[in-house]
Amino acid sequence: MKQALILLKSDIKFFVKNFLKKNFGVELKRVKKEDARIVSKVPVHQIKKLIKNKGFAVSDGQASWFYTAYERGDSDPLTNYVMKFLESGTDKNARVLITGCGTGIMAFHLADLGFKDITGFDFLQECVDVAEQVSKMGGYSVKFYQDDGFSPKDTGVKYDAITALHWVFSAWMGNYGNQKLPSEKTASAEFREELLTDFLAKYTRFLNPKGFLIVELTDAVTDYRIPTDHYLGEMSKEIYPIRHTPEQVEKCAMLSGLRVITKNLSVLYGHHPRVQYVLQKI
Ligand SMILES: C[S@@+](CC[C@H](N)C(=O)[O-])C[C@H]1O[C@@H](n2cnc3c(N)ncnc32)[C@H](O)[C@@H]1O
Repeated sequence: MKQALILLKSDIKFFVKNFLKKNFGVELKRVKKEDARIVSKVPVHQIKKLIKNKGFAVSDGQASWFYTAYERGDSDPLTNYVMKFLESGTDKNARVLITGCGTGIMAFHLADLGFKDITGFDFLQECVDVAEQVSKMGGYSVKFYQDDGFSPKDTGVKYDAITALHWVFSAWMGNYGNQKLPSEKTASAEFREELLTDFLAKYTRFLNPKGFLIVELTDAVTDYRIPTDHYLGEMSKEIYPIRHTPEQVEKCAMLSGLRVITKNLSVLYGHHPRVQYVLQKI
């Protein structure tokens, strides 16, 4: 009887999985949930309303990434890791800069954890506007401004931690109004290293001694991922074309005055395997 139940459970799982995939294109993923749930103090429906009013709730005929950003909960292991790393590894008085901050989810979460000095910037003015409105609604003292993360302005401030999550690999693809890189160059190891070294060096100068730069990159394992392993098939080859191996990141970090403290891989969240590197100023 026990065996029959086990097999029935397995058959039901298989049926549901196939049914969802066939009829709704949904694939069930096995992600271990954590207790790092990002809960917004400002109600999510109010943030969605701000995004609708600003006109960026819909993109390509569906709800935009921004519209659902605050629904992320604890589904993103890399962001969760950073939150925990900062919470346990840095002082609450640490000065933190969140680059490509979107509408501010991570900035507000850190403020809720007790961090007192947080600044965020984003390329898109509409994100900055919404982040500022959410900040006001939640009574936060987080500062936001518009800037291009590929040529960040020197505000004269030095930070203890700078994050670049969820955007650099995508911006290198030309998303969010960034310049698309020439496709004949994107597979070149030298070109990829030049881009990364240039990026890291721009932020090293804004770090206090021993400060952290946390950056998320597409892993070069993606280069030999077969298209049938991806739901977008051949298209998957063009998604996030700037990819790095851990060895390349070590090399670029050293050239930029940083060293790799730790790295984390996530294969289930997002289009391709991503690695998040925690770098420290030497
Ligand atoms: C997928 S969203 C991630 C937002 C936020 N980091 C988060 O995790 O919720 C990517 C963000 O990066 C921003 N971005 C893209 N290119 C940028 C650039 N060159 N400089 C600064 N921000 C940029 C986009 O405007 C967008 O808000």
